[in-house]
Amino acid sequence: MKSEREQQLMEQAYAEIDKYQDLVNRDRYRLRYHLMPPVGLLNDPNGLIDWNGTYHVFYQWMPFRTGHGAKFWGHYTSPDLVHWQSAPIALAPSEWYDKNGCYSGSAVDHEGKLVLFYTGNVKDEQGNRQTYQCMAVSEDGLHFTKKGIVITLPDGYTAHFRDPKVWRKDDQWYMIVGAQSESGDGKAVLFRSTDLFQWEHLGPIAGGNSNWLGPFGYMWECPDVFPLDGQDVLIVCPQGLKPDGMRYQNVYQSGYFVGHLDYERTEFLHGPFEELDRGFEFYAPQTMLDRHGRRILIGWMGVPDQDEDRQPTVRHRWVHALTLPRELRLVDGKLRQTPVKELKQLRKQKVAYRNVAIVNELRSWPGIEGDAIELRLDNIELFGSMLEIHLRHAARLVYNGDEGVLTLERKSFVNGLTEKRQCRLPRLRSLHLFLDTSSLELFVNDGEETFTARFFPHPDDRTILFGTHGHLHMDIEKWDLLR
Ligand code: FRU
Repeated sequence: MKSEREQQLMEQAYAEIDKYQDLVNRDRYRLRYHLMPPVGLLNDPNGLIDWNGTYHVFYQWMPFRTGHGAKFWGHYTSPDLVHWQSAPIALAPSEWYDKNGCYSGSAVDHEGKLVLFYTGNVKDEQGNRQTYQCMAVSEDGLHFTKKGIVITLPDGYTAHFRDPKVWRKDDQWYMIVGAQSESGDGKAVLFRSTDLFQWEHLGPIAGGNSNWLGPFGYMWECPDVFPLDGQDVLIVCPQGLKPDGMRYQNVYQSGYFVGHLDYERTEFLHGPFEELDRGFEFYAPQTMLDRHGRRILIGWMGVPDQDEDRQPTVRHRWVHALTLPRELRLVDGKLRQTPVKELKQLRKQKVAYRNVAIVNELRSWPGIEGDAIELRLDNIELFGSMLEIHLRHAARLVYNGDEGVLTLERKSFVNGLTEKRQCRLPRLRSLHLFLDTSSLELFVNDGEETFTARFFPHPDDRTILFGTHGHLHMDIEKWDLLR
């Protein structure tokens, strides 16, 4: 049963969708095959689960404006990770313990029910924050009943304590929560339960100023823990890291540690932090285990506090999107991300060229163009110093073979100047690119590196240009993508 207040808020949100639907849909930057908010602002993906034969993706949603605030949980479902349907609003910030936002969280199946865990965010008139980890339950996977608070703030942490991710292991439930310790360090904190209602606080498994790490940011958001290919992986989003060479260029970071989670000692023995993505817009990813045993990740194509209000789509009353679903593998101790193979269903017309050669020139290839396309460049052989790919005159990929550096440049949507993100790449073998009307996702060398970004070309510009200094051979394949 929903409270009167919850029903009222949901009705207001639906009214907002009706009111702005035309304006939103007129936007030529509206994406063709990515998940977006129907109106307003979307941020983190939440509650990813493959439940009773249906994939569920919930998302942080502010229906009433294109800024942050008291978040709802929006909801999409899909049979195949490609075709999505919008489902009824799952959660609204209606109760005293979540009145300033049903913040991020996760989903599990328990006794045939779909159970959500989320953070109830509360702020008083002075702006002081309170945080509660809360539960909501559904029988049909579409309508949720709030069960209230299951965890209050333990000693030793500030109220920056949120984003519960729950999983099951050996007949126990575990929850990892993103936290800030009273000494100002980001932490990932573990809880254990037998019934999902009573939770025992086990303590931090990882964090800044621990056995395994020096100072590492003032807050860790959106933690996720899972076993993969014989090891354990901890994904976190640390806030407060300073730019360091090519690393940590966004306002907040998103990355992972590989190691071993010792449940007995409440300690994650881990190696160094690696960024998940090298692009401009990527944050707060979450993973799920699916029916095929795959570990699938979806991220937010945005970063908090990073010029969100300057994105051109706000004129059409919406902002941000989710990334494509990506399958994770662990190869040589590093995460590899590849777009799920179901996305091949989107492919329409194919244009392919085998073993093309480009010598000291900048040129296009007939049919290799478009605004919603998949582009594969394979068997790249570069004899010379540089390869570049111009995307619709608004972004450019540059591989410098002498330095072993891959660069993504784009025209800033704040001031029109060129800005860049980079990573080291000793050898370039393949580039796999998904372009949507205002986004790009690049998978390098079959997912060794990824770059995710929004970009805003002229809507009629479909041009793709390839160039080299030197001599280049490669295979080109391109498909139009349509859902
Ligand atoms: C990350 C985050 C989470 C929080 C949510 C609020 O982007 O700040 O920590 O739960 O967004 O929308």
